[in-house]
Amino acid sequence: MILSIESSCDDSAIAITEIATKKLVFHKKISQELEHSVYGGVVPELAARLHAEALPKILEECKPYFKDLKAVAVTSSPGLTVTLIEGVVMAKAISIALNIPIIGVNHLIGHIYSLFIEKETQFPLTVLLVSGGHTQVMEVKNLQEIKTVAKSMDDSFGESFDKAAKMMGLGYPGGPLIEKLAHDGDRKRHNFTIPLHQSPLIAFSYSGLKNSVRLAVEKANESEYKDIAASFEYIAVAHIVQKLKKYFKTVRPKTFAIVGGASANLYLRSQIEKLLNPYGAKLLLSELQYCSDNAAMIGRVGVEMYEKGLFSSLEELEVCPKSVI
Ligand code: KG4
Ligand code: ZN
Repeated sequence: MILSIESSCDDSAIAITEIATKKLVFHKKISQELEHSVYGGVVPELAARLHAEALPKILEECKPYFKDLKAVAVTSSPGLTVTLIEGVVMAKAISIALNIPIIGVNHLIGHIYSLFIEKETQFPLTVLLVSGGHTQVMEVKNLQEIKTVAKSMDDSFGESFDKAAKMMGLGYPGGPLIEKLAHDGDRKRHNFTIPLHQSPLIAFSYSGLKNSVRLAVEKANESEYKDIAASFEYIAVAHIVQKLKKYFKTVRPKTFAIVGGASANLYLRSQIEKLLNPYGAKLLLSELQYCSDNAAMIGRVGVEMYEKGLFSSLEELEVCPKSVI
């Protein structure tokens, strides 16, 4: 079995995955949403302190499995430096104490493998990752051949929902709150501009849309927020669909997947389904419980890396806050 740890942002999670069967034997996650919601976003130092409390508590429950562990996998990049360190230090301690190898896992690859928890992999794949930290399209041939073909030049998709929610005083994380509010709103009430709609670039940008939302919020009263939320969600998704359409002119996907916390957004899912229909492309989605950050996806990558012998050196494994894909 492999024990995996995730602490790249505001979720403390540990999983245990059986190597031969890919079965998820144990998974527990303690989220910090409540603690950060008063600030309208994640406070890194607070997150690190909460990980330091939560991770040992979860690990305690894993003790019966210690004798069966063949390796420990841990998210080492990208993420918040101070929170990644909590997981990596714990993984190093486990590696030394149990004398098992350590595997440093890239969190973005983890999101891709959230599609394959308790399943075999299916490649090649075109993947849209929409999370709090990233908005990017990747061509995935296999674990070691991943090419990013489009990414955000500024804010991410999920982050723009978080910031819009903060402006309206809704709380954190903003994605589900904005989605709920948008449900009864008028999508056409605010004529926000689709970002980069005149640019030939296949890239994403959310900072301009965020500023348009800010101006609309400043002029509106609370009863009008639902229309702002609906119009914002409509344009945020239209931006992704427009750029994917452009990309599909040269590369036609056979299998397309949406992963990351914001892949839970039902309007995004429905619009991408519509986009893929004429291509006859298959859409893969993670189970709802594995869209947001979790340790099961890190464990699934861990199994793949274990089988390929991709271990890290205990001395050289360091946290890296930036994306390396
Ligand atoms: O993958 P994730 O849990 O963490 C990162 O790796 O960043 O993604 C969290 C992000 C947050 O920005 C959250 O607001 C967004 O995903 N999110 C959503 C929805 N659910 C979560 N965004 C839009 N619609 C949703 N339903
Ligand atoms: Zn994530």
